[in-house]
Amino acid sequence: MRIRQHVNPLRADFLEIALEPLVLPAGPPVEVELGSADAQFLQERAVEEPRRFYVGVEIRRELVEQANRRCRRMGLSQVHSVFANIAVDLLRLFRPARVARFFVNFPDPWFKQRQRKRRVVNEDLIGQMALLLEAGGEIHVATDIFDIALDAMAALERAEGFGNMREPWSFLRRSPFAARSRRERRCEDLGIKIWRLAYRRQQA
Ligand SMILES: C[S@@+](CC[C@H](N)C(=O)[O-])C[C@H]1O[C@@H](n2cnc3c(N)ncnc32)[C@H](O)[C@@H]1O
Repeated sequence: MRIRQHVNPLRADFLEIALEPLVLPAGPPVEVELGSADAQFLQERAVEEPRRFYVGVEIRRELVEQANRRCRRMGLSQVHSVFANIAVDLLRLFRPARVARFFVNFPDPWFKQRQRKRRVVNEDLIGQMALLLEAGGEIHVATDIFDIALDAMAALERAEGFGNMREPWSFLRRSPFAARSRRERRCEDLGIKIWRLAYRRQQA
């Protein structure tokens, strides 16, 4: 099967995919990974905490289909990947205040200076996550690229209504979760430094 390895994030800005809101089971807390690829992280989260519901948002349709087939084989009915574009589809997918945690694990690096404002964790995305997070909900970002970590931190420190879960302008020392994404495991195996940030949505 052919897998398209790269989606041009500049073009993806205008590509609307998800037309229908997701129907989520009432009750269990919902955790969402943005750019979930094969959803390995969410599969491991589901093993770690089975009583939650997990949604992967991914723009490569082949990966979404593969991930959903794998979850069915593994009997992980609480993990679902959806073919959607982070840049434009989130507010259509989720109801306000329905998400307990967002994960942004190893967002694609867009190095050029002129593409800075197009980095995944920007004011726009943070504003949307703020609407979708329940009070006390969390945003977790992990990346092996320091510039991306610093940009995300600056945007999150500036955002109203969020507090750094460690202390202002600080990275987490280690992941609070046992689950690992594929990229995270690879970095750990190769001894590559991972920058981790976590922010909590304060009560309104
Ligand atoms: C570097 S990979 C990281 C995958 C996974 N989170 C991990 O840590 O192994 C980034 C993923 O984000 C997806 N992605 C990039 N832009 C996206 C967008 N606008 N909407 C949804 N997914 C996107 C890519 O297709 C890719 O699967």
